Amino acid sequence: MWRMSLKRNLNCPLEEGKRLAPLSAMGVGGEAEFFMEPADTRDVCELFRIRREAGFPLYILGGGTNVVFADGLLRGVVLSSRRLSDFRWNEDGNGDVLAEVEAGCSLPRLAAEAAEKGFAGMEFAQGIPGTVGGAVAGNAGAAGRSVGDLLEEVTAVEEDGGVRKWKRGEYGCSYRRCSLFSPGRFFAGCKMRLRRASRAEVERDGEVFRRVRSSQPRGVKSAGCVFKNPEGDSAGRLLDRSGCKGLRIGGAVVSDVHANFILNSGGATGSDILELMERCRDIVFRKMGISLEPEIKLLGFGMDLFSV
Ligand code: EPU
Repeated sequence: MWRMSLKRNLNCPLEEGKRLAPLSAMGVGGEAEFFMEPADTRDVCELFRIRREAGFPLYILGGGTNVVFADGLLRGVVLSSRRLSDFRWNEDGNGDVLAEVEAGCSLPRLAAEAAEKGFAGMEFAQGIPGTVGGAVAGNAGAAGRSVGDLLEEVTAVEEDGGVRKWKRGEYGCSYRRCSLFSPGRFFAGCKMRLRRASRAEVERDGEVFRRVRSSQPRGVKSAGCVFKNPEGDSAGRLLDRSGCKGLRIGGAVVSDVHANFILNSGGATGSDILELMERCRDIVFRKMGISLEPEIKLLGFGMDLFSV
């Protein structure tokens, strides 16, 4: 019934049996029963209204840089924000610049353009792959700075299909967490406050963050850091000290460069990644007494330990 409603009421194509592996940086996963990539938020609202009645599973996808899809068929709908990617720079009257950005805009692309224009504040984001929507959802950051520091307003499609604007102060952001995040809420866009500076200043500040990134594996299939850093420590350090580097299950392997990265070295499955995560977590718990929490989002794995 809901399948018919979707086909009838959406303006964008509704693709069936969409392969998910090419849509994620990790390069694993099965197929989505339905996949949609709307160019207009109205389609998202319509989807949410239909879902409210029918209650089918929904997976929201940005750049696919922080997710691992399960193998097999994901029932329900995968909603991609990639075609909602406009942005513009506005003056705010106090000399600051407000970036008005749609969710599917690439975060490093936005950061690069800000740097070119000499707008300061998002230098830390220059090396963070993914979309702005995904970055808001997980409060992406590097070296103590995060997207939440910049947010002035978040626009979301709510579970009932209505659009709501959330002002700064109505939500909170902390380490890799935005209080608005919910699997049933779509971040449609946001406003970010940046400061006018010189291109040289932004370039210089960006260098610090680029250096940090250079200690991480590059040109590989991964979803970035797998586990959150526990309070006052680094998951990478703990995994390294526990001897996890090089551990392998199927095509999934713990990076030799940075122990908090799991790589798809070729032919990995979603289950390989999940199993390797569980093994690493058990080892760290046994050796260090610390229980690591996943930072990446596991989609379609059901009600297991790590699902979001
Ligand atoms: N370390 C090791 N062995 C390793 C990895 C790290 O001993 O295999 C040590 C490092 O030598 C350093 C400490 O652990 O003393 C911290 O490592 P690093 O500077 O690489 O930072 P991190 O805490 O591992 C965090 C973010 C990264 C972000 C960097 C840079 C998390 C989970 N990770 O990594 O974010 O790029 O800081 O700011 O918060 C991501 O979110 O996907 C991500 C990669």
